[in-house]
Amino acid sequence: MELRGLGHTDIAVSPIGLGGWQFSRGAGVVGRYWPTISQAGVVEIVRASLDHGINWFETAETYGRGDSERSLAMALEAADADPSDVVVATKWWPLFRGAESIAHTLGQREEYLRPYRVSLYQIHHPYAFSTLRTQMQVLCQLVFERRIAVPGVSNFSACQLRASEEVMQEYGLHLASNQVRYSLLDRRVERRGVLETARKLGISIIAYSPLGQGLLTGKYHGVAAGRVQRAFSSDALSRTRPLIDLLAQVAARYEATPGQVALAWVIRFHGRAVFAVAGARTPEQAKENALAMQLDLTEDELHRLDEVSRMVGLK
Ligand SMILES: NC(=O)c1ccc[n+]([C@@H]2O[C@H](COP(=O)([O-])OP(=O)(O)OC[C@H]3O[C@@H](n4cnc5c(N)ncnc54)[C@H](OP(=O)(O)O)[C@@H]3O)[C@@H](O)[C@H]2O)c1
Repeated sequence: MELRGLGHTDIAVSPIGLGGWQFSRGAGVVGRYWPTISQAGVVEIVRASLDHGINWFETAETYGRGDSERSLAMALEAADADPSDVVVATKWWPLFRGAESIAHTLGQREEYLRPYRVSLYQIHHPYAFSTLRTQMQVLCQLVFERRIAVPGVSNFSACQLRASEEVMQEYGLHLASNQVRYSLLDRRVERRGVLETARKLGISIIAYSPLGQGLLTGKYHGVAAGRVQRAFSSDALSRTRPLIDLLAQVAARYEATPGQVALAWVIRFHGRAVFAVAGARTPEQAKENALAMQLDLTEDELHRLDEVSRMVGLK
């Protein structure tokens, strides 16, 4: 299975990772978004991911106030994942907090994720009480203390990314990644120069919600409007229909699914610059998503999907 280096680091990860938001057990404001999955279910999801080539797992402090981290670590252990074979990423939650809490709360992350190390530690979004400079300085300190392997950010603009990387370089370090919303349904990071800036700086992009939270699998296009979950308006469903039809057409050529084609597009359209972190609620979904890494779309297919995605123009 293909592994790619994350940013300037020597951390080699699969192009697709498994997202841990779904493991929040319904706890906290953010964690309530997804229905609860039993711990046995999480084990099966993690096992299916490992069995099909995924070697990194992404979670956050705010996903169920640590429940996702605990659940992920227990599942990795139950699936016999050797700590030296997997990469675990988590995130610090900045809202109403200062940079001192990055280091303060890391102890809890380490405890919840044990025996797995915090390889990639990310600032969840750029809205903290402290300046970006102070936050980056704390991350550098944590690298020097070997408490984290590499620093990363999430939801940072091009300008915030440049400013943060500048601080990192003062300390002889680099940001590994910027985790942002990116899919065939949401191309804003391209239009706003985030992707281009990251490429120039050698920082990887990690695309979250690469399946548009399920919309790009096409399964919500077939159900009655009243039963549609989450924020999928009937307008969004009808506007995206041409894109779903194209995904299905391409998928049929490979005996794949529309969702797999959507994931393959994310990790291939920009060469090796973009990784995807996909969430799954069942082991079958996790397996299907991992197998998308084997789908090698042609240049023609990548560009046709690009075109139709722009025409649909959701975001
Ligand atoms: N940094 C950030 O601010 C941020 C924000 C959001 C997410 N994230 C991270 O990114 C990860 C992924 O993003 P996401 O969960 O928002 O969206 P996503 O990966 O686009 O969608 C995940 C959802 O799509 C459905 N699905 C997944 N695989 C499927 C398959 N093969 N067939 C059919 N349906 C499938 C499942 O929901 P249903 O079965 O209910 O349809 C699943 O919960 C999260 O787990 C989290 O770790 C980070």
